[in-house]
Amino acid sequence: METKLPFMTADEAAAYVNNGDIIGFGGFTPAGCPKDVPTAIAKRAEAMHAEGKEFKIGMYTGASSGDSLDGALARAKAISFRTPYQSNKDLRNALNGGEVDYFDMHLSHLAQELRYGFMPKPKFAIIEACCVTEEGEIVPTTGVGNAPTFCNIADHIIVELNEAIPATMKGMHDLYEPQDPPCREAIPVYSVSDRIGADCIKVDPKKILAVVKTNRPNEVGGFAPTDEVTNKIGENVATFLENEMKAGRIPASFLPIQSGVGNIANAVLGALGQNPNIPAFEMYTEVIQDAVIDLMKKGDVKFASGCSLTISAEKLAEVFADMDFFKQRVVLRPQEISNNPEVARRLGLITINTALEADIFGNINSTHVLGTKMMNGLGGSGDFTRNAYISIFTTPSTAKDGKISAIVPYVSHMDHSEHSVKVLITEHGVADLRGKSPRQRAEAIIENCVAPEYRDMMREYLDKAPKGHTPLNLDNCFAMHKAFAETGDMHNAKF
Ligand code: COA
Repeated sequence: METKLPFMTADEAAAYVNNGDIIGFGGFTPAGCPKDVPTAIAKRAEAMHAEGKEFKIGMYTGASSGDSLDGALARAKAISFRTPYQSNKDLRNALNGGEVDYFDMHLSHLAQELRYGFMPKPKFAIIEACCVTEEGEIVPTTGVGNAPTFCNIADHIIVELNEAIPATMKGMHDLYEPQDPPCREAIPVYSVSDRIGADCIKVDPKKILAVVKTNRPNEVGGFAPTDEVTNKIGENVATFLENEMKAGRIPASFLPIQSGVGNIANAVLGALGQNPNIPAFEMYTEVIQDAVIDLMKKGDVKFASGCSLTISAEKLAEVFADMDFFKQRVVLRPQEISNNPEVARRLGLITINTALEADIFGNINSTHVLGTKMMNGLGGSGDFTRNAYISIFTTPSTAKDGKISAIVPYVSHMDHSEHSVKVLITEHGVADLRGKSPRQRAEAIIENCVAPEYRDMMREYLDKAPKGHTPLNLDNCFAMHKAFAETGDMHNAKF
């Protein structure tokens, strides 16, 4: 039976959305996120508010999104709840100000928890596509996120057909949804490049409520140029991995890399590419960043499996200009698979993520500034860290011009515990935490990773701490945080 595609404007599509509705937005990071319809929903919210009417929606996404999605809706005060990850300044202010309920969760969990019924199902899936057919085939663009699950469980689908993204992207995606327990079988990804699913999302065409044509570039920002600190962290990671290989703890063929988001991750990848003793490697990761494209062109990265191509406009143009080359070397999967613990453990991933704060025992805070203010969220860091072959965290040793030590006696919020974190690396060096007791870990971290200006303070804390298995002093383990809150400088802490 033929179904005509229901083309309409963004405003017409947004008019279907009402106060209290829940929406699942496709894409992952700003890559592949819808833009015009969310902005139109924000406009609708503002118009409703001007009439004194309530208008807020609940929001599921893949991860962070673009400003015309999270930013526009947060500024319009149109969000009631939001999960699983964000990084938008206006949304961050809204959730830290208590205006938005935010649930920070492991990115691989959201799709299955929606299918299990742990949270309400979305009424709408809003998906950016580079191709949609009357038979109900939807090809996502540069980010997949949870798009297949949102399309399957939502009542209605709104497609943003972005003509800025070539339909030749079809074939880069590998879309697979596992069955739910007790029927789940092994996810058959046995090597990074295995393809196990479809190249498009297949839906009942009757569920497609609207197709909105757009022509919008991705809202992916560029990267800060690397500096002395990020370069040194990158070198330290590369040297550590080179030594692991020489010691026979990483096979000579190397293991797939997962690398986190941001400037440090970009610098680390650059350093791995420059190290002549590290062979060309594969990536099984969440976000494919600019550095990967450069390394792929040089032959240093053989294959990258990810959830999104979160790359600058310039790099994206390079990919589009050489689609056949990249289709043979890149696969984009739903986050339930790109971040899947079963697959991460099986493939033996070397995981490299950035900590906001670490403590001397190896616990990691990825999310909360001084224990209270949400920065972004946990993202995929937990999916990967807990299931890694070797889990590495990197961080600059200080923040805010040295007034904050990123390494403290005890983390003010814990996302990854000492049991999951194997190696900590700053610009000063490497603390290998494997097989070490809490006191040994503390000594390794203080001597190798803490900024020299904070080392005496940290040694004093450790000397004065009670002598139990874990030398934690309940009276003053947050003395450095308190000193910063009261005086603006952790140097003023007293133990
Ligand atoms: N205490 C307080 N503030 C701190 C801090 C600390 N220990 N360490 C850093 N900051 C501040 C910085 O000063 C900066 O502030 P600003 O925005 O006012 O300049 C901000 O936090 C971000 O720091 P920056 O060094 O620019 O971080 P980044 O871009 O490298 O990101 C994380 C670091 C931890 C925020 C980021 O990696 C993240 O969100 N991680 C969690 C998700 C994740 O790991 N995903 C990867 C899985 S694939």
